Amino acid sequence: MYHVPVLLNAVVEGLNIKPDGIYVDATFGGGGHARAILEKLKTGKLIAFDQDENARQNIPDDERLIFVHNNFRYMRNFLRYLHYEKVDGILADLGVSSHQFDAGERGFSFRSDAELDMRMNPHAELDAQKVLNTYSEEQLSHIFFEYGEIRNARCLARAITMARSSAMIRSVNDLTRAIERCIPVYDSYKYLAKVFQAIRIEVNDELNSLRDFLNQTIECLNVGGRLVVISYHSLEDRMVKNFIRTGNVEGKVDKDLYGNVHRPFRAVNKDVITPDEVEVTMNNRARSAKLRIAEKI
Ligand SMILES: C[S@@+](CC[C@H](N)C(=O)[O-])C[C@H]1O[C@@H](n2cnc3c(N)ncnc32)[C@H](O)[C@@H]1O
Repeated sequence: MYHVPVLLNAVVEGLNIKPDGIYVDATFGGGGHARAILEKLKTGKLIAFDQDENARQNIPDDERLIFVHNNFRYMRNFLRYLHYEKVDGILADLGVSSHQFDAGERGFSFRSDAELDMRMNPHAELDAQKVLNTYSEEQLSHIFFEYGEIRNARCLARAITMARSSAMIRSVNDLTRAIERCIPVYDSYKYLAKVFQAIRIEVNDELNSLRDFLNQTIECLNVGGRLVVISYHSLEDRMVKNFIRTGNVEGKVDKDLYGNVHRPFRAVNKDVITPDEVEVTMNNRARSAKLRIAEKI
């Protein structure tokens, strides 16, 4: 199975699909959400993005779907190019697919030894080896602290720079050996997950891509159009939450001269939507999912 779509019904409901509408799936992956959207469309179109060309294998034979093999941070330009400047709904199901995570050779997971890579787009310049072997101790410490929310980020950065002074860090095992002394014994799994998350975010420039993408949704959505985002960690969710509330990921409230607050979106669900126990039991990867839905006003 390439990927099991998370919160499928809530996503489709959240998009409020019109049969003749134009929709964007910014993160096509295994195409599970995309297929459910296509089922609701008649004459409408779905423009799907994925920066991983492996996702192509999941494209259904359906002329209503246009696949764009690129980063969703360039959504606005691609929509212009395709003559769909305004759309009725945009979905982003962030992060990596199960396929990317499970393909040991792509180096996303600490559970199998492999060359450290972690690029969602295998043609991108920056990979995990470059980050670990060329970034300064300060840069590494910043990444682990900011993107992994790891308290002993300095210990990690120091351990990595020490280890690489004798031999390059090439593999998952090289890395876990290098940082062994920083890993807490009581929660090693969670800790390593954070270390790998931090490196992955840097390699794929995930937070900047998300910022660029969210900013474009204001211009790309028709009034009444829906923005539906599933995030899997607090850094992303904070950005999405701020964006829906204020129209910017920093959460700065924009007021005009008269003190009127400018809000491009209305939150459709007051509280964040999370998968129920049944879904988490069936699909453990859904456990950290947070879904937010907003409507362009
Ligand atoms: C969680 S999966 C999406 C799964 C999909 N919703 C499904 O039903 O199968 C995330 C996908 O988004 C892609 N992706 C992540 N960030 C991206 C970005 N900035 N631009 C384009 N694709 C991205 C990944 O390559 C991955 O295939």
